[in-house]
Amino acid sequence: MTVEPTGPGPAEPGVVAELRRLLVEVTGEDEGWAARVAKESRLEGDLRLESVEWAALADRLAERYGGRVDLAAYLADLDIHQIIGLTVGDLAGYIGSRLPAPSPPARTRRRAGRTAPDTGCCTGPLCRSSLVHAHETGACPVAGDSMIETSGLRKSFQVGKGRKGVTVEAVRGVDLSVAEGEIFGFLGPNGAGKTTTLRMLSTLLLPDGGEATIAGADLRTDPAGVRKRVGYVAQGGGTWDEVTAEEELVLQARMHGFSKAEAKRRAAALLGAFDLAGYADRRCKTYSGGQRRRVDIALGVIHSPKVLFLDEPTAGLDPQSRAHMWEEVRRLRAEGMTVFITTHYLEEADVLCDRIAIIDHGEIVAEGTPDALKREISGDVLAVTLNGSTSRAAELLSALPLVNKLEAVEEAGLWLYVDSGATAIPQVLRVLEGSGVEMDAIELHRPSLDDVFLTKTGRSLRDK
Ligand SMILES: Nc1ncnc2c1ncn2[C@@H]1O[C@H](COP(=O)(O)OP(=O)(O)O)[C@@H](O)[C@H]1O
Ligand SMILES: [Mg+2]
Repeated sequence: MTVEPTGPGPAEPGVVAELRRLLVEVTGEDEGWAARVAKESRLEGDLRLESVEWAALADRLAERYGGRVDLAAYLADLDIHQIIGLTVGDLAGYIGSRLPAPSPPARTRRRAGRTAPDTGCCTGPLCRSSLVHAHETGACPVAGDSMIETSGLRKSFQVGKGRKGVTVEAVRGVDLSVAEGEIFGFLGPNGAGKTTTLRMLSTLLLPDGGEATIAGADLRTDPAGVRKRVGYVAQGGGTWDEVTAEEELVLQARMHGFSKAEAKRRAAALLGAFDLAGYADRRCKTYSGGQRRRVDIALGVIHSPKVLFLDEPTAGLDPQSRAHMWEEVRRLRAEGMTVFITTHYLEEADVLCDRIAIIDHGEIVAEGTPDALKREISGDVLAVTLNGSTSRAAELLSALPLVNKLEAVEEAGLWLYVDSGATAIPQVLRVLEGSGVEMDAIELHRPSLDDVFLTKTGRSLRDK
C-alpha cells in the first residue's frame, strides 16, 4: 500500500513533542534519554529511529491517532536504508500530513489565485507556479530535458521550546533546474541547507512550501513515483557493520521488489562495477572509508534510478579515494544517470560538476557552470594579509585607480579586485611602504569558486 502526504498537517513541533513522548513510552527509556536525544538531534539532524521497536510504536500511534496514521503502511513504502535513516522529524512530517489540514493562512489563499493560465505547454513547477510561463522567459527547460525542477522549496525547523525556541529557516525558497545527464553540484558551507534540500527531494522530509518535479514525478502528489526514480546516498552512509557488501546489495534489491535471481545478478554486477568484488564477502566494518562509500553508492543505484542524490560522498576521504569516487560518478553519468551531488569542497565542485548552484543560509546565491561563474569575476584578486591597520590600508588602497573593488576579509586581510595582478602588485607595495601599515603577505589569485562565493556572500568558503 502506498501512503502519500495529503497536505500540510498541524504545527510540526507539537507532533514532534508528542512523538518523543510516545518514544519514551515505547522504548522504556527515561526523560533524560529523550533530553539527550533532543540535544544530539541538533547536531545530527534529528533522532534516528534505528533502535525503535516499530511494532510497538505502530500500536501506540494507532492508539493515539486512530486509523489515520498507519506506520506499517508508511514503512512498507520505504526501502530499508530510508527506514534506517528515518528521524523523528520525518515521522512527524508524515503524521502531520495524515491529520486534517488547518485552513491556509491568508497569504497562501491569495497566492492560490495567482496560478498561470493553463496553456498546456509545460506541467513543470516553474511554469505552474508563476504568472508568466517560465518557458516563455527561457527559464523552463524543454520537457524531457529536465530531470529536477524545484520552485520556491522551503523548510524550517523549530529548535528549542517556549521563549528560548527559535525557528531555523534551513531552506528559503530554492529554485533549481537540472538537466538530464548532468553532474550537478550543490556547493555551500556547513549548515547552508544542502542536506535538508536533498532530503526533501528524495521524499524523506516534507517541504513546508514550494514544488518540485523529479524525473517527471511530482514531489507532493507522487512521492512513491519519485522514490522509484531516485537513489539517495545519505551523508553518513547506510551500511551495517555486521553484514557483507553482497548481503547489503541483495537485500536492497529485494526491497525494491526484484526476484532473488535478479537481486543476485544486480549485486554481482555492481560489486564488479564498483571494484568491490574482492571484498564482497567481508563485513562492512572491515572496509576502508573509500570502499564503504562505494558500497553506499552501489546501494543507491541498485534499482537503476534516473537521478542519484549523493550527499557529501567524498567528505573525509583521502585524496586518492576522492579521485576514485569522482571516476565512479563520471561513469554513472556516462551510463545515463543524472547525478546531484552536495559538497563543501571547492575543488570537487570545480573539477567534477558540469553545473553548480552555490547555497548559503538556505538561499541560492549563484548558479551556472564553474567556468561561467568564475568568468563573471573578471580580473585577478590580490589577497593582502596585514598585521593590524586594516582600515588604514583599505583607505590607502581603495584610492588606487587600478583597484576595481576592495573587500575586508576575516583574519586581518584585504581582497583587491584588479584587472592584472602582475601590474598591481608593485603599486600596492609602493603605497603601503612608509605608510606605517605592516604587511605580512601578498598573494595573487586567479578567480576561483571561492572568489565567486566571497563576491556573493562577503565570506570565504575555504576551511569552513
Ligand atoms: N532536524 C533538524 N532540526 C533542527 N534544525 C535542523 C535540522 N536539520 C537541519 N537543521 C538546521 O538547518 C540548517 C541546514 O542544515 P543542513 O541542511 O543539514 O545543512 P548542510 O547540509 O548544508 O550542512 C542548519 O542550521 C541545521 O542546524
Ligand atoms: Mg549536510
